[in-house]
Amino acid sequence: MSARRIRFLDREPAQEAILNEVLNGLLSPRKRLPAKLFYDKRGSELFETICETPEYYPTRTEIGILRNFAAEIAEVVGRNCILIEPGSGNSQKVQLLLESLRPSAYMPLDISKDHLKVSVQALKAAYPWLNVHAMCVDYTGGLKRLELPRLPSESKKVVFFPGSTIGNFEPGDVLVFLHQITRLVEPDGGLLIGVDLRKDPALLHRAYNDAQGLTREFNLNVLRRINTELKSDFDPGNFYHYAFYNAGESRIEMHLISRGAQEIQLAGEVLKFAEGESIHTENSYKYTVKEFQRLARNAGFRAAGCWRDERDLFSVHYFDLPA
Ligand code: AVI
Repeated sequence: MSARRIRFLDREPAQEAILNEVLNGLLSPRKRLPAKLFYDKRGSELFETICETPEYYPTRTEIGILRNFAAEIAEVVGRNCILIEPGSGNSQKVQLLLESLRPSAYMPLDISKDHLKVSVQALKAAYPWLNVHAMCVDYTGGLKRLELPRLPSESKKVVFFPGSTIGNFEPGDVLVFLHQITRLVEPDGGLLIGVDLRKDPALLHRAYNDAQGLTREFNLNVLRRINTELKSDFDPGNFYHYAFYNAGESRIEMHLISRGAQEIQLAGEVLKFAEGESIHTENSYKYTVKEFQRLARNAGFRAAGCWRDERDLFSVHYFDLPA
């Protein structure tokens, strides 16, 4: 295979931008951290292990849907598109579609440079025919300012956004993000997206409180990351993992709760915590199929396909643009 088939663009966010986001979140009256901070090397590894736990049904279920309906999905999406995957991680799921979709190019975009490099090498070995244009980038700031490398212009663009990562966006941000995707893929492209469905809260509770404690470690790892990268002195042992289903908001909330009163040093600031005070680290929204289709329609899309498992746990949608 020719070396020209792989391109790697490095636009990793500056440490200063991360520090500002962390400080803003932790100095606000209701302490928050952006969920994207979970995904350093250790966090990404932990997330992959969570995906294999018996309790975390989304990954298995979505993989089942993509595997069972790959041919049908390819028929609706069409072949030869430029396939763009924000937050591509290990590019595992796209591999279920590559042979059916046969895209003219694949563009994985990820914040974790190490992860991206490993997965690009694996893709190169497994799919010698595939053009890969990888970009290390923080897409959560918006796709609007994303400068994509020059691509073959005759192919339509399709964004692949699996894993229900959209569930980690606030509803208002979902609309903005979906609208940005319409701009990115116009005039004739689309969006293939995995969306976790609303379901029995007991099942949701188990998925975010696995018996092995991996989700707890994943949540606490964010404090270790801040210690290492931003030179703070969090003791993760002084916080505990708390995840619950907020039925009113249709979302799982993850928090880190302070076990006692404590003070943390971070970049010349003193962060004060009361006993029981929370750092809200993640929301994971769950939708019905109709709700999500309505959202996508409001952003300018048209529902063109929807595939689900037989237990109605998870959905994969294809949206295109009305002519
Ligand atoms: C990446 N994202 C869709 C996961 C979720 O389910 O919201 C992240 C996660 N958090 C805890 N477990 C998994």
